Amino acid sequence: MIRWSQQCIPTLKESPQDAEIPSHQLMLRAGLIRKLAGGLYTFLPMGLRALRNVERVVREEMDRAGALEILMPALHPRDIWDRTGRYDVLSDVMFKIKDRQQRELVLGPTHEEIVTDLVAREISSYRQLPKNFYQIQTKFRDEIRPRFGLMRAKEFIMKDAYSFDVSSEVADVSYQAMYDAYVRIFSRCGLRTKIVEADTGAMGGQSSHEFMVLADSGEDGIVECESCSYAANLERAETGDMPPLVFDDADKTLEVVDTPNARTIAEVAAFFDTTPAQMVKTLVYIADDQPVVVLLPGDRDVNEIKLARVLGASELNMADDAQVGKITGAPTGFAGPVGLKNVRLIADRKLAGCCGAITGANEVDKHLIHFDLARDVGDVELADLSFAREGDPCPRCGETLHEKRGIEVGHVFKLGTKYSEKLGALYLDESGKQHPAVMGCYGIGVTRTLQAIIEQRHDEHGIIWPASVAPYPVEILVISAKHEPSVALAEKLAIELEAIGIQVLIDDRDERPGFKFKDADLLGLPVRISVGEKSLARGVVEVKSRATGEMTEHAPEAVLEVVQALVEEAV
Ligand SMILES: Nc1ncnc2c1ncn2[C@@H]1O[C@H](COP(=O)(O)OP(=O)(O)O)[C@@H](O)[C@H]1O
Ligand SMILES: [Mg+2]
Ligand SMILES: [Zn+2]
Repeated sequence: MIRWSQQCIPTLKESPQDAEIPSHQLMLRAGLIRKLAGGLYTFLPMGLRALRNVERVVREEMDRAGALEILMPALHPRDIWDRTGRYDVLSDVMFKIKDRQQRELVLGPTHEEIVTDLVAREISSYRQLPKNFYQIQTKFRDEIRPRFGLMRAKEFIMKDAYSFDVSSEVADVSYQAMYDAYVRIFSRCGLRTKIVEADTGAMGGQSSHEFMVLADSGEDGIVECESCSYAANLERAETGDMPPLVFDDADKTLEVVDTPNARTIAEVAAFFDTTPAQMVKTLVYIADDQPVVVLLPGDRDVNEIKLARVLGASELNMADDAQVGKITGAPTGFAGPVGLKNVRLIADRKLAGCCGAITGANEVDKHLIHFDLARDVGDVELADLSFAREGDPCPRCGETLHEKRGIEVGHVFKLGTKYSEKLGALYLDESGKQHPAVMGCYGIGVTRTLQAIIEQRHDEHGIIWPASVAPYPVEILVISAKHEPSVALAEKLAIELEAIGIQVLIDDRDERPGFKFKDADLLGLPVRISVGEKSLARGVVEVKSRATGEMTEHAPEAVLEVVQALVEEAV
């Protein structure tokens, strides 16, 4: 048993100013973590206990799925990152350092290169496959905007796993095994998660799913179908077919109209007394040094991830005013697709068949009306370039998509042979032929998961831990630390509970009862036993479930069984 008076649980009455979301505020207020600097946190004893519990759940399920735990260095020679080209791709995010001999090193943001190099050295035959290696380790990322406490930190703990198989068919089996393990991990952590299709980003590879904890504070936008199982990150979400955007009689001819002082979509729409949907938005990009003009419905936002993928571009930037001037012959704000020459033109698929629209005339203070895409621009390249949004049709079944926010706690990827080819992770098949191993990689943000649990499980009084993760499953609150019989009974109950494997925190502090009850709700251990003079006079102690708020009274002899049942329920 541990006594609060001897612990370090520095609870706070007020939320620290820079904590914006409930889970971050509660981690600080309940005395779980303290900030060293932006994106860098110390775990205090209660926070560390909860963190170790999340790690234990992750470890048990990874072991159960047959993955092998290893521990790789956090410090990597630069050279291995150059071999896959990712030193450049991840350059912004990597912390780079030098040793005393001026050799360049990086602090690992992830470990595909390192594990693949290991496999290249250790595995040579199909008989040694499949293998799945995992570790629970600190990662370092120089995030542009570290925020929300542990949610997006510069240093955080990740569980990362990497599978190696002889073919993509069996690699799919490894992928499914990790997917299933993740479902169990998050459910054991008391989390409700939504699994969504995800973009593969800098990782490369063919297929990927993210495990999202739905929360208003989530950094990721997702859409889900109200009717079928389709759900996807907004970075990649598609939409079903929509009727063409037809705004007026198709036979009206293109007309130039003076639009003084109307430059933005909103200003031009207001000028014509219409909605932005009738506008054709014209954006100029520079993709790997080549100009590209992108057309979208005026009320839609370009999805640059989709755009970069369609263009096959590794670098994509909005053109600056000078470049826009050169390409369109007009200042930014008046660009339109009509009459553009020597530039790649690409339109969002939703513009197919669009007519009666309004767009820029490539002249200061002028716009075109009665614009018809096919008639006025000809055969234009069409692609899915915009973000899906609330109310759009589902790409699978046509029913309505709904937008939600999510916290990405886990991510699984099918990687293929990108890394094994570049780093020589090859194996010999039965006939002695050499092939690259087929890989998958699987991450869980362990520290982020811990905070996501709090984000999803709290009320206005504090945290509501599941027993699996709680720093302790039970708190015994001694109402008056000066009342000897209460203290003695509390200690006796604690010893009995610990004998059946239930760890206990005793609040033995010489403080006002109200203060201690508030702290108990704030720290949020699943079961609270209160021992006090008044109830003892009636021969009972009080037991409260943090999750349901239900309070019952029991004779001390009966408490053990009641508490054990409550702890088992507290998932
Ligand atoms: N800066 C961070 N702070 C805390 N956790 C992070 C951070 N970046 C990533 N994670 C966690 O690690 C997991 C695996 O990372 P990865 O998918 O490579 O990250 P990202 O999607 O941000 O590129 C994520 O699902 C997330 O839970
Ligand atoms: Mg990710
Ligand atoms: Zn659907």
